[in-house]
Amino acid sequence: MRKILVTGGAGYIGSHTCVELLEAGHEIIIYDNFSNSSPLAIKRIEEITGKAINFVSGDILDQKTLEQTIHLYNCDTVIHFAGLKSVGESTSDPISYYENNVAGTLSLLKAMKSLNVKNIVFSSSATVYGQPQFLPLTETHPLSTTNPYGNSKLVIENILRDVFASSPDWSITILRYFNPAGAHSSGLIGEDPLDTPNNLMPYVAQVAIGKLKELTVFGNDYDTPDGTGVRDYIHVTDLARGHLKAIEQIGESQCLEINLGTGVGYSVIDIVNAFKKASNKEVPFKFAPRRKGDVATCFANPNYAKQTLGWEATLGIDDMCKDHWKWQETNPNGYNPAE
Ligand code: NAD
Ligand code: UFG
Repeated sequence: MRKILVTGGAGYIGSHTCVELLEAGHEIIIYDNFSNSSPLAIKRIEEITGKAINFVSGDILDQKTLEQTIHLYNCDTVIHFAGLKSVGESTSDPISYYENNVAGTLSLLKAMKSLNVKNIVFSSSATVYGQPQFLPLTETHPLSTTNPYGNSKLVIENILRDVFASSPDWSITILRYFNPAGAHSSGLIGEDPLDTPNNLMPYVAQVAIGKLKELTVFGNDYDTPDGTGVRDYIHVTDLARGHLKAIEQIGESQCLEINLGTGVGYSVIDIVNAFKKASNKEVPFKFAPRRKGDVATCFANPNYAKQTLGWEATLGIDDMCKDHWKWQETNPNGYNPAE
């Protein structure tokens, strides 16, 4: 049993991971500034698990509060989700992205070091592979990025590798997520974009429920079976279980990079069709030019995760759409019922 500080634990992936950690018997302390989440998510985690949660409303840039929290709760491990994640916003406001993501991580690492806590699991992204040079993507694929968000993830990965090189008593697990989708099967927690969604699945869900008029499909002239972009969508509960495995596998001394994906790619049109089936709703769409920075196809080779963590995805695209729809239908305004 570990005592885990979960930065960004009220967010989309963090909240689902907290459920899995609590159900497996770990102790958690959520540390979040709620800049992209709601305290209600924590109430919902409590509802699902039947366990009371300790949480601190704080910023990862605030090293002192981080230190007090780690010390007070005697944490031995950190799962670090906190950060900003919109690619588009990162190009218009790079300073905030480097500050929150890179400076925030440095502040966290300094707090951990000062208290001799050296186990960390970090949320990285398939975005660090840039334009794929081969598929499926293995962890040894060359790293490159095309926007400030991606740069911030790659800089943090490099910082973590340097920390390990300087002190091999750290245990560092860098998880590279592919495309998280879906929601907890209870329908109580899920993704709650504050503005119009940037990502495909929440956008499709809001079209299906009638909040948005139609989906704009960015590009139908890619070199893919139907011309639309192909991605490796992974159920957020599978992703959460990957974190649980990563926690259970933490060793004395390691610095690992691990893909969390399914190894299967679906096109935008595949997702529209699967969502229509799951929701029994129409999802009107129109084609538009490609979105800047998008790649045609991106999917993981998930073998290393199986080998190192004994983890593989178990849920498919129909589960992702069914659970995303349940969340969307029962919480049409996300965590904000007054909207
Ligand atoms: P999210 O926005 O739902 O969760 C992030 C959480 O961090 C939020 O609760 C937010 O309030 C909190 N936060 C942000 N800045 C903070 C700060 N300075 N101090 C304290 N808390 C702060 O995002 P998510 O989808 O759950 O993503 C979690 C992590 O996974 C992020 O690091 C993201 O970059 C990474 N990731 C996400 C995706 C994706 O498509 N969702 C893909 C790859 C990687
Ligand atoms: N798409 C549309 N219309 C939309 C939104 C998306 O056609 O309104 C298409 C995109 O062009 C792409 C696919 O749907 O072909 C998936 O797009 P997303 O925006 O959902 O996901 P991305 O693959 O672009 O990026 C996501 C996260 C990144 C992360 C990356 C890899 O947003 O942060 O997965 O993990 F880095």
